Amino acid sequence: MSAARPTPDSFSTTQKALHWAVVVLIALQYTLLEGMGRPYDQLVETGIARYPLTVILHIGVGATVLLLAIWRLVLRARHGVPAEPEAEPELFRKLGRLAHGAIYVLLFAFPISGAVAWFGGVGAAAEAHEIIKALLMALVVLHVGAVLVHQFVWKTNIARRMT
Ligand code: HEM
Ligand code: HEM
Repeated sequence: MSAARPTPDSFSTTQKALHWAVVVLIALQYTLLEGMGRPYDQLVETGIARYPLTVILHIGVGATVLLLAIWRLVLRARHGVPAEPEAEPELFRKLGRLAHGAIYVLLFAFPISGAVAWFGGVGAAAEAHEIIKALLMALVVLHVGAVLVHQFVWKTNIARRMT
């Protein structure tokens, strides 16, 4: 059952919608919209920012991810999240909290570093943006792996909480 508020065993409808919207937007940034390298090199070389469609969409989608991440944290703070599943060892629950926290940090750091690189002309921020690209990818692989371990090893139907 979907609910306006999170229940003990499910995120709220809005929390779910936000989770999956961010997944789609991040996937777009990594695939169709990753062509920022050349426009960025041109900006660095000439000092002139050009705005072909890819650049406009990359910036727009990136800014949207930031807004949605803020919205998610507001909902988390106001309404909370489902209780942690009981079945797994305490160490893994700690690791889960840590991993989710790290993902949220990257959801902020990704667009902010991009904006500082593009609008602020800070080369180090562009490098940070690329490092974040690899870190987020690694965490998402871990995240999906953890969902599979919950599902098939600990037999906690965790996917249902977010679907
Ligand atoms: C969550 C949001 C974002 C994601 C997931 C994301 C993802 C990416 C990816 C995958 C690349 C390609 C990196 C590569 O060439 O290997 C990239 C490059 C870039 N992005 Fe983003 N981006 C986001 C937000 C933004 C924003 C808001 C801006 C600017 C306002 C921005 C500016 C740039 C720039 C300038 C580059 C080129 C960096 C370089 O070639 O050194 N990004 N981004
Ligand atoms: C860009 C990709 C993804 C990002 C950034 C992401 C991010 C997150 C974050 C931050 C949370 C914690 C929510 C909170 O407690 O506030 C979460 C939970 C969750 N995610 Fe993802 N996720 C991604 C992809 C996926 C995928 C592909 C799956 C499916 C296998 C998935 C399944 C889940 C589930 C089931 C939960 C709930 C965990 C729980 O009950 O505590 N996520 N995700």
